[in-house]
Amino acid sequence: MIGALNECRKIQLPKIHDVRGNLTFAEGERHIPFKIERAYWIYDVPGGEYRPGHAYRTLSEFIVSLSGSFDVEVTDAERTERYQLNRSYNGLYIPPGIWRRLENFSTNSFCLVLASADYHEDDYIRDFDEFKRIRFGRQ
Ligand code: TYD
Repeated sequence: MIGALNECRKIQLPKIHDVRGNLTFAEGERHIPFKIERAYWIYDVPGGEYRPGHAYRTLSEFIVSLSGSFDVEVTDAERTERYQLNRSYNGLYIPPGIWRRLENFSTNSFCLVLASADYHEDDYIRDFDEFKRIRFGRQ
């Protein structure tokens, strides 16, 4: 299950505007293109910091900035794109088989990730050379 770089896309979520506070929600297989099995979040990141890159063999993710901003760099080892996330009513969908790196975290940023499966370390590809071998079918 190797995704294409052009499948990565920002998805706009519903936003219920209210003077008492706005509300946004996401349902799996409705607003985002997979069933949500897990959520995790990244916070207390020092300003300007990055998270090391990796890809997943089978996992799909949807990444939202609930506060502050950060960039997501995605690559298929041939082309690279960069998305800035800084709104809580949209997020970035990333299919399996795409290398992604989170960087340029602002102070007090809060990153929510919705994922299509439970955590399995063996689903990670953490070595970029291995990623290229898998992408280019030279295993
Ligand atoms: P990891 O996904 O490697 O984060 P990053 O690449 O951004 O540093 O996760 C960091 C650690 O957290 C790793 O040791 C595994 C653990 N972890 C879980 O146990 N469950 C999870 O759902 C996630 C995302 C990470």
